Parts: sequence; C-alpha cells; structure tokens
Amino acid sequence: MSSLDQLESRLLSDIASAADEAALEAIRVGALGKKGTVSEQLKGLGAMSPDERRTFGPAINGLRDRVTSALAERRQTLADAALDARLASETVDVTLPVRATGADLGRLHPISQVTEEIAAIFADLGFAIAEGPDVEDDEHNFTALNFPVGHPAREMHDTFFFAPDASGQRKVLRTHTSPVQIRTMRSQQPPIRIICPGRTYRNDSDQTHTPMFHQVEGLVIDRTAHMGNLKWILEEFCAAFFEVPKVEMRMRPSFFPFTEPSMEVDIRCSRQGSEIRFGEGDDWLEILGCGMVHPNVLRNCGLDPDEWQGFAWGMGIDRLAMLKYGMPDLRAFFEADQRWLQHYGFRPFDLPSLIGGLSQ
Ligand code: DAH
Repeated sequence: MSSLDQLESRLLSDIASAADEAALEAIRVGALGKKGTVSEQLKGLGAMSPDERRTFGPAINGLRDRVTSALAERRQTLADAALDARLASETVDVTLPVRATGADLGRLHPISQVTEEIAAIFADLGFAIAEGPDVEDDEHNFTALNFPVGHPAREMHDTFFFAPDASGQRKVLRTHTSPVQIRTMRSQQPPIRIICPGRTYRNDSDQTHTPMFHQVEGLVIDRTAHMGNLKWILEEFCAAFFEVPKVEMRMRPSFFPFTEPSMEVDIRCSRQGSEIRFGEGDDWLEILGCGMVHPNVLRNCGLDPDEWQGFAWGMGIDRLAMLKYGMPDLRAFFEADQRWLQHYGFRPFDLPSLIGGLSQ
C-alpha cells in the first residue's frame, strides 16, 4: 500500500469515527490546514519532475477531494444526529389532557344566563334596563301601583314585612318588579321602553316556588301604545327566547290592580312526560301577566292619562329558565350544589346574542 493510500485510509477512518463537530474540525485542520498532512503532500509537488507530477498530482488531488467530501458528509451526519437528539428531548405528548383553568371549570348560573338572554332580546327591540331596590316601601310596592290600603290584592303576595322604623313605616322585600315601573315613570319623561329584571320575595316554598325568586318587568309608555304592540312584542320575545320560528299565544282576562284591562298569556305547547315543546301541540302554558297601565298608576306618576298610555308585563325568570332548560325543581337553583351547576350552568364566555345564538 502506498503511503498516500495509507494516509487516505487513516484519514477516512478518523473521519468516520469522529464523535462530534470539534473532533471533525481537528481532523480537517490536521489534514487540509496549512501544515496539514495533505497540504504537505501538495507542497511536495513543486519539487517533483514533470513525470512524477503527472502521476502524483491527480492522486494527491483525488485524495484531497475524497477527504473533503468525507468531512462534509460526516459533518452532515453529525448535524442530523444532533437534530434528532434535540427533537427527541423536546417532544410534547399531545395526548396529555389539557389542565382545566378557572374559565373552563366555572359556570354561569342558569338565572344569570336567562337574564342575559332576555336582556339581549329586548335590547334588540330597543328597550333599556332599569333597576330598583330589593327593600321597598309600601308606596312603591303597593300604593302607587293602585293597591289601595286594606285592599285584598295585597294579601295575594305573601309579603315579607320589616319591623316598623322610627316613623312607624314598615318596609317590605319587594314582592314583584312592578315598583320599578313607578320609579322609572317618576324619574324619566316618556316615551319609556324598559325592562326591569331582578330579585323578588314572597313567603312561599315548594317545587316551583322559593321565598326569593326572579322576575322581569316590561314597561312601554307612549302616546299611542296599544295592545296590538304589546301582543307583537310578547310574540317576538317568546319565539326568540324559546328559539322557535313562531309561538302561538292566547290571552285570558285576569286582574291586576295596576293594569286595566289585565290579561294572562298562555303559549301553545305539547307535553310528553316532563318534556315541553313550544310552537306545537294541544296544550297551553301560562307564562306571564300583562295589561294596559291603569290610569290611576299614570296619574300617581304625574302623567296625564289623556296624553299618555302604556302597557306592561311581568314574568318569572326562574320559571322561564325551568321551561327552557328542563329543570324540574326550583329549589335546586339555590342550593349551590357544584354538580348541579356543572350540569345546568353555562360557559362564562359564551355570551347570549341574537346573532351568535342565545343558548349555545
Ligand atoms: N307584578 C305581577 C306579579 O308579580 C306581574 C305583572 C302582571 C306585572 C301584569 C305587570 C303586569 O307589569 O302588567 O304577579
């Protein structure tokens, strides 16, 4: 074996066994650097005869080319191995379940959800939201709403009374959201279009009644507001709320001191077991009370009934939630049971809107 062949086989085997980039660089310098073994051979060419050069020249150049390409190949192999090692050490196990955050675990109570749904529908119809205090005086809860003192209608409400204050007045926990009508008419000039959602209280408790519950009141005051407007608004609301194309309503005469005439509204439904569907069937379900605002109520708020008229309605938010989402027992709403909330609650960032969908 010539000395060139020996040099080549030693260099090639060194290159093949170089363990890393630094070892490879040392071999390159040792062979192809200024004083490297291959460079020394090339320098020797100058002193050779033309004949020797003809044989040696191609041999030594060939050796240099093969060593150069072996170096490049090995460098690539080492780089690939380094990348593989890095990829292996940085792998992410995509099958691991994501750890749930508070936003995933938390749930909006169905009452909050349904209140938002109702607000979204009426906001779309141009209604503002009005609020009033839970602790009311007799004047706003009853007298101004045309419940005369001693009138038996006051007894219908199973009112919670506070002990008399220094002036002998007994405050009440409001028994309905209707006092907000009075507060609004006394503080704003018509035209008025409001809804008033909020807590209400009556001394009552069974599967469909709890001492604290929720109502939403609606009030429209204008010069020409009439029952046709009222019926259209309620139909629009019911269809949007129950997410059906159309609902059929019927109005039955009723009595409330603050409206004349007064009606109760039923919607057509079908029942199978505990399941209720709206917009079809042979059954009727009562969902709200309504009527034209009584002239005495307008007068009590400083409005001339010959100039202004209006209509109003009131409905139970809890009852609407039970009907829409099939929750059979109202008491469970207020037991703060995590399992119930996980099941019936709503994701906090899925806010109801008429465009995005009310109840997704
Ligand atoms: N306040 C009534 C109740 O709690 C509900 C109601 C009926 C409100 C008719 C109204 C109305 O505004 O017009 O039973």
